[in-house]
Amino acid sequence: MKNNIIIDCDPGIDDSLAIMLALSSKEINVVGITIVCGNTPVQLGFENAKKILKQMNRLDVPIYIGENEPLKKTYTDALDTHGADGLGESFLPDVCGYEQTKTAIEFMAETLKKIPCSVIAIGPLTNLAKLIAYDEGAFNQIEQLISMGGNYRSHGNCSPVAEYNYWEDPEAANIVYEHMTKIKKQIHMVGLDVTRKIVLTPNLLAYMNRLDANVGSFIQKITKFYFDFHWKQEHLIGCVINDPLAIAYCIDPSICAGFSAYTTVETKGITRGQTVVDAYRFYQQKPNAFVLTEVDHKKFFYLLFMKLFHKTKEELDILDTLMV
Ligand code: BDR
Ligand code: CA
Repeated sequence: MKNNIIIDCDPGIDDSLAIMLALSSKEINVVGITIVCGNTPVQLGFENAKKILKQMNRLDVPIYIGENEPLKKTYTDALDTHGADGLGESFLPDVCGYEQTKTAIEFMAETLKKIPCSVIAIGPLTNLAKLIAYDEGAFNQIEQLISMGGNYRSHGNCSPVAEYNYWEDPEAANIVYEHMTKIKKQIHMVGLDVTRKIVLTPNLLAYMNRLDANVGSFIQKITKFYFDFHWKQEHLIGCVINDPLAIAYCIDPSICAGFSAYTTVETKGITRGQTVVDAYRFYQQKPNAFVLTEVDHKKFFYLLFMKLFHKTKEELDILDTLMV
Protein backbone atom coordinates (compact mmCIF):
# COMPACT_ATOMS: atom_id res chain seq x y z
CA MET A 1 0.00 0.00 0.00
CA LYS A 2 1.21 3.53 -0.75
CA ASN A 3 2.12 5.84 2.13
CA ASN A 4 0.31 9.16 2.08
CA ILE A 5 2.90 11.88 2.34
CA ILE A 6 2.91 15.64 2.63
CA ILE A 7 6.20 17.13 1.47
CA ASP A 8 6.94 20.36 3.33
CA CYS A 9 9.69 22.11 1.39
CA ASP A 10 11.50 25.22 0.17
CA PRO A 11 12.41 24.42 -3.45
CA GLY A 12 15.38 24.79 -3.91
CA ILE A 13 17.51 22.54 -6.11
CA ASP A 14 17.78 19.49 -3.87
CA ASP A 15 14.15 19.88 -2.75
CA SER A 16 13.21 19.60 -6.42
CA LEU A 17 15.14 16.36 -6.78
CA ALA A 18 13.40 15.09 -3.65
CA ILE A 19 9.98 15.91 -5.11
CA MET A 20 10.95 14.16 -8.36
CA LEU A 21 12.00 11.06 -6.44
CA ALA A 22 8.79 10.99 -4.39
CA LEU A 23 6.61 11.38 -7.46
CA SER A 24 8.48 8.56 -9.22
CA SER A 25 8.05 6.09 -6.35
CA LYS A 26 5.14 3.71 -6.19
CA GLU A 27 5.55 3.44 -2.41
CA ILE A 28 4.59 7.08 -1.95
CA ASN A 29 1.37 8.96 -2.60
CA VAL A 30 2.12 12.68 -2.48
CA VAL A 31 -1.16 14.13 -1.19
CA GLY A 32 0.15 17.67 -1.22
CA ILE A 33 3.19 19.88 -1.25
CA THR A 34 3.43 22.67 1.31
CA ILE A 35 5.87 25.52 0.90
CA VAL A 36 7.81 27.30 3.60
CA CYS A 37 10.27 30.16 3.27
CA GLY A 38 13.83 28.88 3.33
CA ASN A 39 16.14 28.54 0.37
CA THR A 40 13.68 30.75 -1.49
CA PRO A 41 11.05 33.25 -0.39
CA VAL A 42 7.78 31.35 -0.12
CA GLN A 43 6.20 32.68 -3.34
CA LEU A 44 9.28 31.73 -5.35
CA GLY A 45 9.25 28.27 -3.75
CA PHE A 46 5.64 27.94 -4.90
CA GLU A 47 6.57 28.93 -8.47
CA ASN A 48 9.41 26.41 -8.45
CA ALA A 49 7.27 23.58 -7.12
CA LYS A 50 4.88 24.16 -10.04
CA LYS A 51 7.80 23.93 -12.48
CA ILE A 52 8.80 20.57 -11.01
CA LEU A 53 5.25 19.24 -11.17
CA LYS A 54 5.06 20.36 -14.80
CA GLN A 55 8.30 18.54 -15.62
CA MET A 56 6.90 15.43 -13.92
CA ASN A 57 3.52 15.78 -15.62
CA ARG A 58 1.88 15.88 -12.20
CA LEU A 59 0.12 19.22 -12.04
CA ASP A 60 -2.70 17.34 -10.31
CA VAL A 61 -0.75 17.44 -7.02
CA PRO A 62 -1.88 20.45 -4.94
CA ILE A 63 0.64 22.96 -3.60
CA TYR A 64 -0.13 25.15 -0.60
CA ILE A 65 1.70 28.30 0.43
CA GLY A 66 2.92 28.41 4.01
CA GLU A 67 4.86 30.80 6.21
CA ASN A 68 6.79 33.67 4.68
CA GLU A 69 9.09 34.34 7.60
CA PRO A 70 10.66 32.44 10.48
CA LEU A 71 8.97 32.62 13.89
CA LYS A 72 11.34 35.19 15.40
CA LYS A 73 14.46 35.64 13.36
CA THR A 74 14.71 37.88 10.30
CA TYR A 75 14.41 35.80 7.14
CA THR A 76 17.61 35.04 5.17
CA ASP A 77 17.25 33.26 1.84
CA ALA A 78 19.81 30.84 0.40
CA LEU A 79 19.74 32.10 -3.18
CA ASP A 80 23.53 32.32 -3.09
CA THR A 81 23.46 28.50 -3.00
CA HIS A 82 20.40 27.85 -5.17
CA GLY A 83 20.67 30.68 -7.74
CA ALA A 84 18.61 33.83 -8.27
CA ASP A 85 15.52 31.83 -9.29
CA GLY A 86 16.10 29.17 -6.61
CA LEU A 87 16.40 26.55 -9.33
CA GLY A 88 20.03 26.96 -10.27
CA GLU A 89 19.35 29.90 -12.61
CA SER A 90 17.70 27.55 -15.06
CA PHE A 91 15.02 30.25 -15.53
CA LEU A 92 12.43 27.71 -16.63
CA PRO A 93 9.16 29.20 -17.92
CA ASP A 94 6.59 30.09 -15.26
CA VAL A 95 3.59 27.85 -14.80
CA CYS A 96 0.50 30.05 -14.55
CA GLY A 97 -2.37 29.83 -12.10
CA TYR A 98 -2.76 27.03 -9.62
CA GLU A 99 -3.47 29.22 -6.58
CA GLN A 100 -5.02 27.34 -3.66
CA THR A 101 -7.52 28.89 -1.34
CA LYS A 102 -6.25 27.08 1.77
CA THR A 103 -2.96 27.87 3.49
CA ALA A 104 -0.34 25.18 4.05
CA ILE A 105 -1.25 25.01 7.74
CA GLU A 106 -4.97 24.65 7.04
CA PHE A 107 -4.28 21.94 4.46
CA MET A 108 -2.03 19.99 6.81
CA ALA A 109 -4.52 20.19 9.69
CA GLU A 110 -7.41 19.08 7.53
CA THR A 111 -5.51 16.25 5.84
CA LEU A 112 -3.90 14.85 8.97
CA LYS A 113 -7.29 14.59 10.65
CA LYS A 114 -8.85 12.94 7.62
CA ILE A 115 -6.36 10.28 6.48
CA PRO A 116 -3.31 8.42 7.83
CA CYS A 117 -0.45 10.56 6.63
CA SER A 118 3.25 11.18 7.20
CA VAL A 119 5.19 14.41 6.73
CA ILE A 120 8.61 14.73 5.17
CA ALA A 121 9.96 18.17 6.00
CA ILE A 122 12.91 19.24 3.87
CA GLY A 123 12.95 22.92 4.74
CA PRO A 124 12.88 24.96 7.95
CA LEU A 125 10.27 23.71 10.43
CA THR A 126 8.23 26.95 10.55
CA ASN A 127 5.06 25.47 9.02
CA LEU A 128 5.14 22.56 11.44
CA ALA A 129 5.67 24.77 14.49
CA LYS A 130 2.74 26.88 13.32
CA LEU A 131 0.66 23.73 12.90
CA ILE A 132 1.30 22.81 16.54
CA ALA A 133 -0.03 26.21 17.59
CA TYR A 134 -2.96 26.07 15.17
CA ASP A 135 -4.11 22.49 15.72
CA GLU A 136 -1.99 20.40 18.06
CA GLY A 137 -4.31 17.40 17.65
CA ALA A 138 -3.72 17.37 13.91
CA PHE A 139 0.05 17.51 14.35
CA ASN A 140 -0.17 14.62 16.81
CA GLN A 141 -1.81 12.52 14.08
CA ILE A 142 1.33 12.60 11.89
CA GLU A 143 2.20 8.95 11.34
CA GLN A 144 5.89 9.45 10.75
CA LEU A 145 7.76 12.75 10.81
CA ILE A 146 11.00 12.86 8.87
CA SER A 147 13.04 16.05 8.85
CA MET A 148 16.11 16.85 6.81
CA GLY A 149 18.00 19.05 9.21
CA GLY A 150 20.50 19.24 12.00
CA ASN A 151 23.82 17.52 12.49
CA TYR A 152 25.29 15.32 15.20
CA ARG A 153 29.00 14.65 14.65
CA SER A 154 29.31 16.46 11.37
CA HIS A 155 30.03 20.19 11.24
CA GLY A 156 27.36 22.69 10.19
CA ASN A 157 26.85 24.34 6.82
CA CYS A 158 25.69 27.74 8.10
CA SER A 159 27.90 28.08 11.11
CA PRO A 160 30.52 25.76 12.59
CA VAL A 161 27.71 23.95 14.42
CA ALA A 162 24.42 24.58 12.62
CA GLU A 163 22.72 23.18 9.56
CA TYR A 164 20.69 25.58 7.37
CA ASN A 165 17.09 24.37 7.95
CA TYR A 166 17.40 24.58 11.73
CA TRP A 167 19.64 27.66 11.64
CA GLU A 168 17.02 29.47 9.53
CA ASP A 169 14.27 28.97 12.10
CA PRO A 170 15.77 27.61 15.33
CA GLU A 171 12.71 28.54 17.40
CA ALA A 172 10.48 26.47 15.12
CA ALA A 173 12.84 23.50 15.21
CA ASN A 174 13.04 23.77 18.98
CA ILE A 175 9.23 23.82 19.30
CA VAL A 176 8.85 20.76 17.07
CA TYR A 177 11.53 18.74 18.90
CA GLU A 178 10.14 19.68 22.32
CA HIS A 179 6.65 18.79 21.18
CA MET A 180 7.86 15.35 20.14
CA THR A 181 9.05 14.92 23.74
CA LYS A 182 5.65 15.96 25.00
CA ILE A 183 3.76 13.47 22.81
CA LYS A 184 6.38 10.73 23.36
CA LYS A 185 7.12 10.25 19.69
CA GLN A 186 10.35 10.44 17.69
CA ILE A 187 11.20 12.68 14.77
CA HIS A 188 13.56 11.08 12.25
CA MET A 189 16.50 13.44 11.95
CA VAL A 190 18.15 13.14 8.54
CA GLY A 191 21.05 15.46 9.24
CA LEU A 192 24.32 16.44 7.62
CA ASP A 193 26.10 13.38 9.07
CA VAL A 194 24.32 11.34 6.44
CA THR A 195 23.29 13.78 3.69
CA ARG A 196 26.82 15.11 3.26
CA LYS A 197 27.77 11.68 1.88
CA ILE A 198 25.23 11.96 -0.93
CA VAL A 199 27.25 13.60 -3.69
CA LEU A 200 25.91 13.84 -7.21
CA THR A 201 29.03 13.69 -9.38
CA PRO A 202 29.53 14.59 -13.07
CA ASN A 203 29.78 10.87 -13.88
CA LEU A 204 26.45 10.11 -12.26
CA LEU A 205 24.92 13.05 -14.10
CA ALA A 206 26.35 11.84 -17.41
CA TYR A 207 24.81 8.41 -16.79
CA MET A 208 21.44 10.06 -16.06
CA ASN A 209 21.66 11.78 -19.45
CA ARG A 210 22.38 8.48 -21.15
CA LEU A 211 19.46 6.75 -19.45
CA ASP A 212 16.91 9.42 -20.28
CA ALA A 213 17.89 12.65 -22.03
CA ASN A 214 14.74 14.47 -20.90
CA VAL A 215 15.15 13.71 -17.20
CA GLY A 216 18.96 13.93 -17.36
CA SER A 217 19.08 17.31 -19.09
CA PHE A 218 16.49 18.72 -16.68
CA ILE A 219 18.58 17.64 -13.68
CA GLN A 220 21.69 18.99 -15.38
CA LYS A 221 19.99 22.37 -15.94
CA ILE A 222 18.95 22.79 -12.33
CA THR A 223 22.18 21.46 -10.77
CA LYS A 224 24.82 23.31 -12.82
CA PHE A 225 24.79 26.31 -10.48
CA TYR A 226 24.94 23.94 -7.48
CA PHE A 227 28.00 22.22 -8.95
CA ASP A 228 29.71 25.61 -9.36
CA PHE A 229 28.74 26.63 -5.83
CA HIS A 230 30.25 23.45 -4.35
CA TRP A 231 33.43 23.94 -6.33
CA LYS A 232 33.85 27.53 -5.10
CA GLN A 233 32.82 26.75 -1.56
CA GLU A 234 34.33 23.34 -0.82
CA HIS A 235 36.51 22.45 -3.80
CA LEU A 236 34.19 19.55 -4.46
CA ILE A 237 33.55 18.21 -7.96
CA GLY A 238 29.86 17.46 -7.67
CA CYS A 239 27.10 18.65 -5.39
CA VAL A 240 25.66 17.45 -2.11
CA ILE A 241 21.98 16.64 -2.57
CA ASN A 242 20.58 16.57 0.95
CA ASP A 243 16.83 16.40 0.57
CA PRO A 244 16.27 13.32 -1.61
CA LEU A 245 17.79 11.19 1.17
CA ALA A 246 14.81 12.02 3.41
CA ILE A 247 12.49 10.61 0.72
CA ALA A 248 14.69 7.57 0.09
CA TYR A 249 14.82 6.86 3.83
CA CYS A 250 11.03 6.91 3.96
CA ILE A 251 10.86 4.39 1.10
CA ASP A 252 13.65 2.17 2.42
CA PRO A 253 14.83 2.89 5.98
CA SER A 254 17.55 0.24 5.63
CA ILE A 255 19.57 2.79 3.60
CA CYS A 256 20.47 4.50 6.89
CA ALA A 257 21.29 3.57 10.45
CA GLY A 258 21.08 5.65 13.60
CA PHE A 259 20.07 5.72 17.22
CA SER A 260 17.38 7.18 19.45
CA ALA A 261 18.30 10.12 21.66
CA TYR A 262 16.81 13.11 23.35
CA THR A 263 17.62 16.01 21.04
CA THR A 264 16.96 19.69 21.29
CA VAL A 265 17.76 22.73 19.20
CA GLU A 266 19.69 25.74 20.48
CA THR A 267 18.02 29.07 19.70
CA LYS A 268 20.51 31.70 20.88
CA GLY A 269 23.99 33.09 20.42
CA ILE A 270 26.71 31.74 18.19
CA THR A 271 25.40 28.18 18.50
CA ARG A 272 21.93 29.14 17.26
CA GLY A 273 20.39 26.26 15.28
CA GLN A 274 22.73 23.61 16.69
CA THR A 275 21.18 20.24 17.41
CA VAL A 276 22.20 19.06 20.87
CA VAL A 277 22.00 15.28 20.70
CA ASP A 278 22.16 13.72 24.16
CA ALA A 279 23.74 10.45 23.05
CA TYR A 280 25.06 9.74 26.55
CA ARG A 281 21.83 10.53 28.42
CA PHE A 282 23.15 13.42 30.51
CA TYR A 283 19.67 14.94 30.62
CA GLN A 284 17.95 11.62 31.50
CA GLN A 285 15.16 12.45 29.07
CA LYS A 286 13.23 9.98 26.92
CA PRO A 287 14.39 10.00 23.27
CA ASN A 288 12.35 12.32 21.05
CA ALA A 289 14.47 11.76 17.94
CA PHE A 290 15.92 8.99 15.84
CA VAL A 291 19.22 10.47 14.73
CA LEU A 292 20.72 9.08 11.53
CA THR A 293 24.46 8.56 11.59
CA GLU A 294 25.25 6.12 8.76
CA VAL A 295 24.20 5.91 5.15
CA ASP A 296 24.85 3.39 2.42
CA HIS A 297 25.32 5.91 -0.40
CA LYS A 298 25.44 3.21 -3.06
CA LYS A 299 22.09 1.85 -1.95
CA PHE A 300 20.74 5.40 -2.08
CA PHE A 301 21.90 5.99 -5.64
CA TYR A 302 20.56 2.63 -6.78
CA LEU A 303 17.19 3.58 -5.37
CA LEU A 304 17.30 7.06 -6.92
CA PHE A 305 18.22 5.73 -10.35
CA MET A 306 15.75 2.82 -10.23
CA LYS A 307 12.89 5.18 -9.39
CA LEU A 308 13.76 8.13 -11.65
CA PHE A 309 14.52 5.98 -14.67
CA HIS A 310 12.16 3.05 -14.02
CA LYS A 311 14.95 0.50 -14.22
CA THR A 312 15.74 -2.67 -12.33
CA LYS A 313 19.00 -2.94 -10.45
CA GLU A 314 20.33 -5.32 -13.11
CA GLU A 315 19.57 -2.81 -15.86
CA LEU A 316 21.75 -0.21 -14.13
CA ASP A 317 24.78 -2.29 -15.00
CA ILE A 318 27.49 0.40 -14.82
CA LEU A 319 26.14 2.37 -11.84
CA ASP A 320 28.38 0.61 -9.34
CA THR A 321 31.50 1.55 -11.29
CA LEU A 322 30.53 5.25 -11.14
CA MET A 323 30.48 5.43 -7.36
CA VAL A 324 33.45 5.57 -5.04
C1 BDR B 1 19.27 21.98 3.60
O1 BDR B 1 19.32 23.38 3.35
C2 BDR B 1 18.93 23.65 2.03
O2 BDR B 1 19.89 24.43 1.36
C3 BDR B 1 18.71 22.34 1.33
O3 BDR B 1 17.57 22.43 0.50
C4 BDR B 1 18.51 21.36 2.45
O4 BDR B 1 17.16 21.21 2.81
C5 BDR B 1 20.68 21.45 3.81
O5 BDR B 1 21.30 22.09 4.87
CA1 CA C 1 15.37 22.11 1.42
